[in-house]
Amino acid sequence: MIMAKFPMICSIFCLLLFCLINPSASHPLCTDLRAPITAKKPLAFCPYNGTVCCDSSKDLQLQKKFVGMNISDSACASAVKSILCAACDQFSAELFKAKSGPRPIPVLCNTPSKATSSLSRQQENDDSFCSSVWDACKTIPILNSPFAPSLQTKAGEPQNSTVSKLNDLWQSKDDFCQAFGGNSSDGKAYCYSGEPVKLNSSDSFSLPNGMCLEKIGSGTNYLNMVPHPDGSNRAFFSDQPGKIWLATIPEQDSGQAIGLDESSPFADLTDQVYLDAKFGMMGMAFHPKFAQNGRFFASFNCDKSKSPGCVGRCACNSDVGCDPSKIASQPCQFHTVVAEYSANGTAPNPSLAEKAKPSEMRRIFTLGLPYADSHGGQILFGPEDGYMYVMLGDGGSKGDLYNFAQNKKSLLGKILRLDVDNIPSEEQISDLGLWGNYSVPDDNPFAKEKDMAHEIWALGLRNPWRCSFDAERPNYFLCADIGQDQYEEVDIITKGGNYGWSNFEGPIPFKPKEIAGGKTSSSSIDPIFPVLGYNHSEINKEIGSAAISGGFFYRSQTDPCMYGSYLYGDLYAKNMWAGVETPTNSGNFTKTDLPFGCAHDSPLNCTTVPNTNTNTPLPALGYIFSFAQDNRKDVFILTSTGVYRVVRPSRCGFTCPKEKTVVVGSRPPSPAPAAAHRAYSMELILSSLLLLLGYLVILL
Ligand SMILES: *[C@@H]1O[C@H](CO)[C@@H](O)[C@H](O)[C@H]1NC(C)=O
Ligand SMILES: *[C@@H]1O[C@H](CO)[C@@H](O)[C@H](O)[C@H]1NC(C)=O
Ligand SMILES: *[C@@H]1O[C@H](CO)[C@@H](O)[C@H](O)[C@H]1NC(C)=O
Ligand SMILES: *[C@@H]1O[C@H](CO)[C@@H](O)[C@H](O)[C@H]1NC(C)=O
Ligand SMILES: *[C@@H]1O[C@H](CO)[C@@H](O)[C@H](O)[C@H]1NC(C)=O
Ligand SMILES: *[C@@H]1O[C@H](CO)[C@@H](O)[C@H](O)[C@H]1NC(C)=O
Ligand SMILES: *[C@@H]1O[C@H](CO)[C@@H](O)[C@H](O)[C@H]1NC(C)=O
Ligand SMILES: *[C@@H]1O[C@H](CO)[C@@H](O)[C@H](O)[C@H]1NC(C)=O
Ligand SMILES: *[C@@H]1O[C@H](CO)[C@@H](O)[C@H](O)[C@H]1NC(C)=O
Ligand SMILES: *[C@@H]1O[C@H](CO)[C@@H](O)[C@H](O)[C@H]1NC(C)=O
Repeated sequence: MIMAKFPMICSIFCLLLFCLINPSASHPLCTDLRAPITAKKPLAFCPYNGTVCCDSSKDLQLQKKFVGMNISDSACASAVKSILCAACDQFSAELFKAKSGPRPIPVLCNTPSKATSSLSRQQENDDSFCSSVWDACKTIPILNSPFAPSLQTKAGEPQNSTVSKLNDLWQSKDDFCQAFGGNSSDGKAYCYSGEPVKLNSSDSFSLPNGMCLEKIGSGTNYLNMVPHPDGSNRAFFSDQPGKIWLATIPEQDSGQAIGLDESSPFADLTDQVYLDAKFGMMGMAFHPKFAQNGRFFASFNCDKSKSPGCVGRCACNSDVGCDPSKIASQPCQFHTVVAEYSANGTAPNPSLAEKAKPSEMRRIFTLGLPYADSHGGQILFGPEDGYMYVMLGDGGSKGDLYNFAQNKKSLLGKILRLDVDNIPSEEQISDLGLWGNYSVPDDNPFAKEKDMAHEIWALGLRNPWRCSFDAERPNYFLCADIGQDQYEEVDIITKGGNYGWSNFEGPIPFKPKEIAGGKTSSSSIDPIFPVLGYNHSEINKEIGSAAISGGFFYRSQTDPCMYGSYLYGDLYAKNMWAGVETPTNSGNFTKTDLPFGCAHDSPLNCTTVPNTNTNTPLPALGYIFSFAQDNRKDVFILTSTGVYRVVRPSRCGFTCPKEKTVVVGSRPPSPAPAAAHRAYSMELILSSLLLLLGYLVILL
């Protein structure tokens, strides 16, 4: 029993190692984590056009910096210029490794590459870009050299006027390339080769044939399923009235359903939650260190006439040009709330907790809602930054009457980013005009702007319904945004990004019939258009309604043909799609309609509906509320008829040549460690290690 645990510990260490050597890649993104812009004409100094990370003032700044280096030799000058200009590359976030603080110069390719560089190469056997920079510049004096070692940590601010040569600063080419070099060979780690980053256009994958589902849960009103942060095979489920359950997710091919006893919730918050068709408990999130601190959070609506704690400032207020007395008989009767609870102290450690105290520990956020619709409500922790992201809709007036989504003073129609680990004093909270117990991360896009809401991460959304981070590429933060009249969209959310509503509905210009609170002019904004979506005209007209439900990048090896696709669906229309990105990391997505079926050996009956086209029985999904992902990276669909899991395609008769065969009665194949576990953060691994050790102690 005890011995059996040791291989697991070993594999945890192996995973840890794997994490350290495997950088993630990302769609076009600039060093400040903002989306690139479209240059209307080529830049004057840097040879970049199209989608770029420089505007003309940044271009000029780079030119000045370059001129200030006073490089006499033309080959070296050209190398240094190209290196400086890499800041304008649409992938500069990756090139400059912005995550650990931007470097003064990009990672220089250090392995021989087939890509031709304009620089002459002096040595046949070593033609890497890094090597050619050394060869061209080693004896050339450079004023305020960006290659000076002291600058590596100081984000490129010119120091004193000192002239240096590379071979003064570095002992050898190897030393130099050790310091500045990096590899591009695995196609994931980016390095600068002397030319704009080019993606591998032959690197494409085939479209999935279909999605095979099994029904493994009978609960019909779950809006959320969140994997246990301890990395175990358990997940939390929550419903709209306000209950949370903890359940074990059975292994694929085990024939078992989720064992969830609805009479025994993990937490019951129904007393606090106001429930109505559009209201209720919309989101929940577990602190990344839940296994140690037991902190978890619920996002729900409350009614101020019923709950004494339901008090907050109204989102319709004079700051945003909105007069609450003109809106409704009871403006801001209903609120959106994020509240904190604790599983601390109910078990030897929070991971073992099966029940939590129902009492609220702390009120994180309260916002009075001017209307009854479109208020979002999902909450999520960023996998890299550990901050809480709060999705808020525009409030729900037709066409966003008061222009909340574009107003940077309003929190409606936004994605907020909050620090819930550093709570200011009550005095500070009121001085700063915060909406609750949180602080604002310094690097929020408008954190330093007067007269703008510092909480905002992204704006111009209508009703974000389900966002997720790609488990393998944390810079891919995708949100589906429910449309009004015509278009349902999926956006890649970036820092300070404006997603257009209500000047645009998806990519389509939108003209509201009525305006009450001013209107932002479309020419004054730089909207980021969706990467995926669908026209209302594309889906079943009989239903008369459409509402997108955002999903996940599929990262399980259960269906290898689906691997890397972004899955999403429509709440009403019973349509599902796979968004396929070609080339990988380009941000260029194409959607394909995803036929789906029910596994012939589904643990629970999928209540078949007639399907004349194939022999595959169609599951009657009902309304698609949400997608979910467990710690094995398998994808789930929460619907009005139950909980479904994506399983091996052959169980539905779909063909996928890459599918692994399962011998009946044997242990199911474990997911390929490389792909399935890459997303595990070090913290998670360490915490599961602690947990494991905890178990060992108990076993001993
Ligand atoms: C601008 O882009 C086009 C192709 O998109 C290319 O042919 C042209 O050389 C580029 N111009 C500059 C100055 O980089
Ligand atoms: C630039 O370099 C030249 C020699 O190449 C030198 O004469 C001149 O003084 C340098 N200028 C500065 C500002 O250092
Ligand atoms: C660099 O400049 C700073 C002031 O700008 C000065 O204090 C320092 O002594 C200078 N260092 C060198 C090495 O010249
Ligand atoms: C780059 O790749 C080479 C050859 O595959 C390898 O020897 C070297 O360690 C790698 N360097 C880094 C920084 O990953
Ligand atoms: C591009 O992708 C294809 C298919 O994945 C692969 O065979 C090829 O080696 C890649 N080329 C480069 C330069 O990475
Ligand atoms: C959890 O409980 C432990 C032990 O009682 C205590 O030390 C710790 O501060 C608590 N943590 C939180 C977040 O309440
Ligand atoms: C902060 O949390 C406390 C405890 O829940 C609560 O009494 C207080 O109202 C909260 N402050 C704000 C501004 O929400
Ligand atoms: C949406 O549908 C309308 C009408 O059917 C069509 O004119 C328009 O091109 C479509 N737009 C997109 C983005 O598919
Ligand atoms: C975007 O994807 C489509 C479909 O795979 C492809 O035809 C097109 O060339 C891609 N566009 C770019 C700019 O890569
Ligand atoms: C599932 O339910 C349907 C409809 O009630 C029924 O026709 C079918 O036989 C059932 N299938 C299984 C495997 O029980």
